[in-house]
Amino acid sequence: MSRIVYLNGAFIPEEEASISIFDRGFLFADAVYEVTSVLDGKLVDFDGHMARLERSLGEVGMPMPMDREAWLALHRELVVKNGLEEGCVYLQVSRGVADRNFLFPENVSQTVVAFTQLKNLAGEKKGLRVVSIPDIRWRRRDIKTVQLLAASMSKTGAKKQGKDDVWMVEDGFVTEGSSSNTYIVTSEGAIVTRQLSSSILPGITRAAVLKLAEERGFVIEERPFTLDEAKAAQEAFVTSATSFVLPVVEIDGTELSGGVPGPTARRLNEIYIEEGRRNAI
Ligand code: PDD
Repeated sequence: MSRIVYLNGAFIPEEEASISIFDRGFLFADAVYEVTSVLDGKLVDFDGHMARLERSLGEVGMPMPMDREAWLALHRELVVKNGLEEGCVYLQVSRGVADRNFLFPENVSQTVVAFTQLKNLAGEKKGLRVVSIPDIRWRRRDIKTVQLLAASMSKTGAKKQGKDDVWMVEDGFVTEGSSSNTYIVTSEGAIVTRQLSSSILPGITRAAVLKLAEERGFVIEERPFTLDEAKAAQEAFVTSATSFVLPVVEIDGTELSGGVPGPTARRLNEIYIEEGRRNAI
């Protein structure tokens, strides 16, 4: 079934949605995006995603093309028009259309695109097998730009090796998965995750999971960790809007938590889904 997508003010069938070859999102990856998950037809962590969108836009010198209420109405209308119960809404804002020039154009209107994707988010999770790879991305990973070729190449490379994803490493420390934040659980049960900086994306799921974990008495250490520390850890997991809390059961051939999802990751996933359902709008 064809989806109804959003393009610059109109809700139209996906086959009818087209944009200019001069769109700067296409030519320069001059665009930022958000992915918001949907449970029971409602938006999870919506305000967090819109706050990060505003920040990303600001960092690349673009205004917010609409306010929170308009974004909410747009997201809700897409969800309803597509009958989406569980999945996500992808939203992208590019600087707009102008003849190819490295300088930012002036007085162009931004291109706003949004569409839904059907996904099983709350189902049983198998656990990821990951391989490490040098982090070759640019140094402003805190901005959620559509410049995703390095991540896409990395994940495709992992698949070719029969694995599920990568963990990227820089200066000896783990940065991120191809599209997720990374965590380990120490033998004392502490949850370790890299602190926020321009080296990683400030995950919205990360913020929510850390808050929920803290409220439930988990010890949290925000600091970098090495691959060796990860391989020797009790458990490992990743978070993102499209995976929630997803266990990692193997790193570079070393099995973790006996090769099956660990109890901390499973518990955090349950809590996140429970709270997500409760707070979704
Ligand atoms: N990506 N780090 C990177 C590099 C990411 O691309 C993502 C999410 C995250 C997790 O952020 P959040 O919890 O806000 O989803 C961390 C989305 C899901 C994507 O590109 O599809």
